[in-house]
Amino acid sequence: MLAHNRIAVLHGVNLDQLGRRDPAIYGELDYDRLTQRIGEYAAELELSAQFFQTNFEGELVEHLHRVNDIADAIIINPGAWTHYSYAIRDAVEIAALPTVEVHLSDVQNREEFRRNSVISEICLMTVSGQGVDGYRSALEVLRDNLAAAAN
Ligand code: DQA
Repeated sequence: MLAHNRIAVLHGVNLDQLGRRDPAIYGELDYDRLTQRIGEYAAELELSAQFFQTNFEGELVEHLHRVNDIADAIIINPGAWTHYSYAIRDAVEIAALPTVEVHLSDVQNREEFRRNSVISEICLMTVSGQGVDGYRSALEVLRDNLAAAAN
């Protein structure tokens, strides 16, 4: 078991509304079931996941300011903030933890404005278009990264 195995799984604006959003784009799971599934994936990988969601940008910024106290790595799906929030980007940079960006939908093949992410440059990788399974890929990447850092 890794000593550093705590993953903060952060969701931004409108992701609490999963279940009401188009299932053809975002899948069938509502937010609670999504986080439950991610928690199961984490447990299978011997990681511990903790969840945070907000619709208020400053709240996510402040959570990121404190995240080092509770986590060793970050998975972030910022929702629409992905495409324009330099404040979230700066806060992720300040946290300075290994970070993977995840999108449920295939953002590269949707509207033009979704193709740009102001976050991806400071992340280890971006996973999109894999639905909930994308979070499993992200957890695997972070587990490997944390294991390599421990050696
Ligand atoms: C999203 C993609 C964003 O473009 C969108 O604004 C979201 C969700 C995704 O998970 O596919 O709210 O981040």
